[in-house]
Amino acid sequence: MKTIAINSIKGGTGKSTLSVLFVKALIGAGYKCLVIDADASNNSLSFYLDDSVGLDITQGRTIFDLFLGAKVQDCIIRIQDNLNLIRGDVRLNEFRSTDSLKRLKRALQGLGYDFCIIDTSPTYDNIIGNVLTASDVLLVPVQQDIFSYQALKYQFEKLADLELDDLDIHVIFNQFEKPLNDNQETYRNQITNMFLKNEVFRPFINSNHISRSSVYRKYINKRNYRLSSKAETQNGYEEVKNLIQSILGISIKEAI
Ligand SMILES: Nc1ncnc2c1ncn2[C@@H]1O[C@H](COP(=O)(O)OP(=O)(O)OP(=O)(O)O)[C@@H](O)[C@H]1O
Ligand SMILES: [Mg+2]
Repeated sequence: MKTIAINSIKGGTGKSTLSVLFVKALIGAGYKCLVIDADASNNSLSFYLDDSVGLDITQGRTIFDLFLGAKVQDCIIRIQDNLNLIRGDVRLNEFRSTDSLKRLKRALQGLGYDFCIIDTSPTYDNIIGNVLTASDVLLVPVQQDIFSYQALKYQFEKLADLELDDLDIHVIFNQFEKPLNDNQETYRNQITNMFLKNEVFRPFINSNHISRSSVYRKYINKRNYRLSSKAETQNGYEEVKNLIQSILGISIKEAI
């Protein structure tokens, strides 16, 4: 099983959006996935809710119980074939430190999924430390703004402390806007160049980006909306496919 964490310390960068896109692409391609919503606000879970899941979703065990020692199989919600989910929990707010950073890694050992995708909150704490320690891949969506840059610098300092040498880190420009012109002095170009010139995280910046587009907003808000090679969604479809290919080496052929 490959575990993919999606985390940025700045809020609203597109963690939940990327999480949903990756999950839908991977289950569409026939992979068996477990999604963990490690965000107290349950943003990822909300996307998967519909009549078939039902309202008793707020009952039962959660990631909070997982941290307290419950087994994965006792915490999962079945969303559809090939997709199970462990929901977030508001009680994560009162549980900001754990005695070990390896609790989640231990809990996830030996599961029969192809991928485990973990959406997170925009924080750095022991919950995130557990998520990163349990992960093989880290996706960090960033925006072309100075606060995203500052947050990324901080995040790389924290990552260095964790000494996760095998973690495959990808910094991904999301809500990316092409420069309006070649003038390197424009604000957007200057900020983008700051990211690209930073020696610490330059090697981790994925050359594929996700553009700012209403297609992604629609995707999150309309359950039957699909990204495919047809018409208005084609650019988005290509961007997501290329990103997944570059990170996981998987070629997505189905609509997402
Ligand atoms: N590429 C994009 N183009 C246009 N809108 C986007 C894009 N990515 C995300 N958004 C929008 O930006 C907002 C924030 O996205 P999202 O909820 O995925 O961020 P997040 O990092 O999970 O936020 P939080 O830190 O609150 O968990 C949402 O309204 C989403 O629809
Ligand atoms: Mg989110």
